[in-house]
Amino acid sequence: MPGESFYLCTPIFYVNDVPHIGHAYTEVASDLITRWHRQRGDDTWLLTGTDEHGQKILRTAVANDTSPKAWADKLVQEAWLPLLETINIANDDFIRTTDERHEKAVLIFLQKLYDDGFIYSGDYEGYYCVGCEEYKQLDDLMETPDGDYAGQLVCKIHGRPVEVLKETNYFFRMSDFEQPLLDLYQNRPDFIQPAGVRNEIISFVKQGLSDLSISRSSFDWGIKIPWDHSHVLYVWFDALLNYITAIGYGTDDENFARRWPAVQLVGKDIARFHAVIWPAMLMAAGLDVPKHVFGHGWLLVGGEKMSKSKLTGIAPEEITDTFGADAFRYYFMRAISFGQDGSFSWEDLSARYQAELANGFGNLASRVVAMVSRYYDGRIPEPGEYLEADLGIQKTVTDALATADAAIETFAIHEAIAAIWTIVEELNGYITLQEPWVLAKDPADRERLGTVLYTAAEGLRALAVLLSPVIPDSTEKLWAALGADSLGLVQEQLITEAAQWGQLPAGSRVTALEPLFPRIELLVAP
Ligand code: ME8
Ligand code: MG
Repeated sequence: MPGESFYLCTPIFYVNDVPHIGHAYTEVASDLITRWHRQRGDDTWLLTGTDEHGQKILRTAVANDTSPKAWADKLVQEAWLPLLETINIANDDFIRTTDERHEKAVLIFLQKLYDDGFIYSGDYEGYYCVGCEEYKQLDDLMETPDGDYAGQLVCKIHGRPVEVLKETNYFFRMSDFEQPLLDLYQNRPDFIQPAGVRNEIISFVKQGLSDLSISRSSFDWGIKIPWDHSHVLYVWFDALLNYITAIGYGTDDENFARRWPAVQLVGKDIARFHAVIWPAMLMAAGLDVPKHVFGHGWLLVGGEKMSKSKLTGIAPEEITDTFGADAFRYYFMRAISFGQDGSFSWEDLSARYQAELANGFGNLASRVVAMVSRYYDGRIPEPGEYLEADLGIQKTVTDALATADAAIETFAIHEAIAAIWTIVEELNGYITLQEPWVLAKDPADRERLGTVLYTAAEGLRALAVLLSPVIPDSTEKLWAALGADSLGLVQEQLITEAAQWGQLPAGSRVTALEPLFPRIELLVAP
């Protein structure tokens, strides 16, 4: 049976600078959720990409003595695509807003909205923050008493002066959608998540929506408005459309119908664009709004959002070079409640690496494989009669699967991992209590030893399947060491069937397992 469509989109990131661990955080969460759905047998698609138009990129390029396209090409090739390798993202597509397929479909969308009367020409007078690429109200600004910009109005987010615009622009009739949006939030309480972000958006829209200026004429790095080439499209209007242009909006109706609507995972900084402007655009075009917009929390540095503009970004490789991609993925997904803000610390990362990954999981895997090698000549033994303790492990796996699956459904990634981790803990406790090394001394206990080691190995088999979306590299190694290859690839095992007991064939040949999470000597910040 072909699975249900599960289409997840990350934001597309600005190429003004290289990625930091905040961007990696969004990518990992998106990848984990998508891998989970893929292993549920859903018809899955993960889209990510880059946002390349607008003044911010133009200025960066000019400051670097190059053209915006050349700058974007360089950053995509040297930084944004490599990021996906660094943290092992299994995206199905990567869209750039300078892709021809995107630009073509944007024109189709714009023309439709124009023809249907949702766009008109008008005068804009107000503030604009290039850092945010956003039109600002006075509330969004503050006057700085001192520093470089003393006496000027600066953006509260970027702390830099805003531009004062007075232009004739094209406007999108966003105000028409104030009530439809409020109805949407009301009728579909899970449309915006988590609750904090939802409440903020609802009160924002309740204050009233104005029409949105969607074009600029003072620079030309953008998609030209089809009926007036002296204007380029507002970068957010352009960027949001990537989610549909990438799957064939206007050009491949069949694929579009197959994938859309998406689940949108973004940082809470840009939840408003995704939960207000974006659904209004879709409604205007007569398209479905997203399934969910989830605004996750921020990685903080010194209590503030880690950011490129404040130069507080930590490069993902600083962590993966020492700890590896799996530890990176595990740490951020486990240590921070998804939806909340969280602070990164080298101490916490090192402590969890050692206690949970190396001692908890890695050791368990090595010990079980080593005991099968030693006591059964490297062949998975046949289990005998299952006793209560053995059945307890089976139940732990069944329960963990159910809890984790439900948690992923509600974006509670940390809870899903915690549920799966009960298997690690129970298996470790089981081995301590069953003492296979004692059973191995008495030939009369041979059958019992087989049952215990089979239970441990089969538990690891299930664990590998459930952890594959979280730590894909290590689970692949464990899978090979268990001799489970006859079952197919670990990342192709159905999660929904992971708890069916007895899948690992007795007689499978185990092979030596290098420590999955080797001891790291240097446990301080580089
Ligand atoms: O806003 N903690 O791009 P952007 C967690 N191009 N996540 C963080 C983070 C942090 N400290 N810093 C950044 C844009 N992020 C637009 C999006 S979408 C049509 C256009 C992540 O490069 C988080 O996902 O500024 C946040 O929403 C995103 O990067 C912003 O990336
Ligand atoms: Mg940003």
